[in-house]
Amino acid sequence: MNDAATRPIGVFDSGIGGLTVVHYLLQFLPAEDIIYFGDTARLPYGSHSPEIVRTYALEDAGFLVNKHVKTIIVACNTVSAVGIDAVRARFDVPVIGVIEPGASAAVRATRNKKIGVIGTLATITSNAYSNAIHAIDPAIEIFGTACPLFVPVAEEGWANHKAAELIAEEYLEKMGKSGVDTLVLGCTHYPLLHDVIQKIMGSGVTLVNPGEETALWTKNFIMSHNLSNPDHPDHSNHATTRHEFYLSDLSLKFSEIGERFLGMKLENVHKVEL
Ligand code: DGL
Repeated sequence: MNDAATRPIGVFDSGIGGLTVVHYLLQFLPAEDIIYFGDTARLPYGSHSPEIVRTYALEDAGFLVNKHVKTIIVACNTVSAVGIDAVRARFDVPVIGVIEPGASAAVRATRNKKIGVIGTLATITSNAYSNAIHAIDPAIEIFGTACPLFVPVAEEGWANHKAAELIAEEYLEKMGKSGVDTLVLGCTHYPLLHDVIQKIMGSGVTLVNPGEETALWTKNFIMSHNLSNPDHPDHSNHATTRHEFYLSDLSLKFSEIGERFLGMKLENVHKVEL
């Protein structure tokens, strides 16, 4: 057994959106302890400059490193796009971001080599998904659109509201005409709007959720590096595992919103100052 195996997996995000990634980690790695940090005091990251996002990301990751995590998952697309190199350079812990898993799933899914990417302004401007997709297949055509209003719509729980449909129509009009057969939901919040996005794009377009792919990558990483936690022999029983959630602000409605993103009751939540 690897010495680090009994340590928790660390996950961080700009806020509670990263709970969509934890949702899949709980499914794919039920025997693992998880420590989550969400920087609710300083979100959204998606409209900040890369320099500020990097500064925040180093503090977020530092919090998890102090908790002795065995690996760090950067659940935030914006940080994965503009700040992950800084995190990797600073800390001596394996760091997994959402861009490569999302890009590689999109390349596997496309048939016509036309892929759309939606995300925050920072993520789209960075071209991180385009670069990762082109690193696998330079012949793929990529269409990117920033959809910033999707974040508050998802947090408000308006996935099935007509406002969500109007906003999706507006953002995705050009994307729909571009002929993409695959669309990367490149933001933690967008999987909650899966159905309305699918409706606007049409059933022929495959939607890729990088968060789900990242949870699968993490599972492969844990297995291939002999890092499976041996402390919880009953792998199907969440009750024996430790899941701790730390937020930099307990904003109004954090628990209602958090539960929407996690897909289950949000317990063991603590407020911390970095
Ligand atoms: N978590 C961010 C992302 O995935 C979205 C919210 C924000 O802008 O902070 O890009």
